[in-house]
Amino acid sequence: MLEQKIQIASSAVTQSTPHLPRVRPRRTRRTENLRALVRETELNARDFVYPLFIVHGSNVREEITSMPGVYHISPDVLPREIEEISELGIPAVLLFGLPAYKDEFGSEDYDDHGIVQEAIRVCKRVDPETIVMTDVCMCQYTSHGHCGIVRNGAIDNDETLKYLGMTAVSHAAAGADIVAPSAMMDGQVGAIRAALDAQGFTDTAILAYAAKFASSFYGPFREAADSPPQFGDRRQYQMDTANARDALREVALDVEEGADMVMVKPALAYLDIIRRVRDAYDLPLAAYNVSGEYSMVKAAAHNGWLDEQKVTLEILTAVKRAGADVILTYHAKDAVRWLKQVER
Ligand code: PBG
Repeated sequence: MLEQKIQIASSAVTQSTPHLPRVRPRRTRRTENLRALVRETELNARDFVYPLFIVHGSNVREEITSMPGVYHISPDVLPREIEEISELGIPAVLLFGLPAYKDEFGSEDYDDHGIVQEAIRVCKRVDPETIVMTDVCMCQYTSHGHCGIVRNGAIDNDETLKYLGMTAVSHAAAGADIVAPSAMMDGQVGAIRAALDAQGFTDTAILAYAAKFASSFYGPFREAADSPPQFGDRRQYQMDTANARDALREVALDVEEGADMVMVKPALAYLDIIRRVRDAYDLPLAAYNVSGEYSMVKAAAHNGWLDEQKVTLEILTAVKRAGADVILTYHAKDAVRWLKQVER
């Protein structure tokens, strides 16, 4: 009975379809080799930057509760980390520091013996080839947790520029290859370029956090970096999450001020911004797959709801497909290992 019905149905299709599909996209999806042959976007270890959180002390390697698999490490543990990263073929790290003390002016931020400055020297001693990037901002260092100097309850843009310049110079002096201003102060790229050049650091590059949105996806990071604002939020300086044209304007300004590379942050919920910046500019483009994007995947995988490996590679591929040349991600080390497994 059933067979008969199928026969009737299939003959009806042949009769009523004068032409079979001539074009069949499925032909190149048939086997893994065919799929690989026509694949448009491929992730590579060289695409990634791995962020690190450095704390004072010795022999510290403590997992960050809100970011499973990410650790607070002390400078003496850093060599092992750098060796692992370089063996995996990841070309760069991004350093964040947790200072010993915080004050109104974020003094440790630009202290030549601050935690980040010490960490930079360790990285460069262990492996001069691994690119050292540093986040240039004040929120981890200030007692009020804002990204700049506070005057009368508000963040003083122009006063902050001097501090950001000093911080960038001290990072460059310690050996940083690339400084990445993330405070979202107007004119920060120009001020940092001028400060670096005035001290002879003309070869230190600037990766501008150009389109940085006031995102709730930074939640887990603020625990990792102990940097939540003690009053208000960051919407007076970070971008409104609803704005795309504003992002292009921010990028234009940073390019004009001398940025060598620009960044869109976060990544996953901002793929349209990545694409628009890619289409409009020729500069290398970075995207920051931020803490919340990482921890969401971790939590779902922990519950058995998502396949961490597959979802992560899918997300990172999407970010690259959208137009990012460089992806900053806490999944960098895992991703490289998983890519190697897939290759085999
Ligand atoms: C510093 C800074 C932040 C992040 C990178 N640099 C936090 C913030 O702006 O509040 C977030 C990174 C992440 O969530 O992974 N300003």
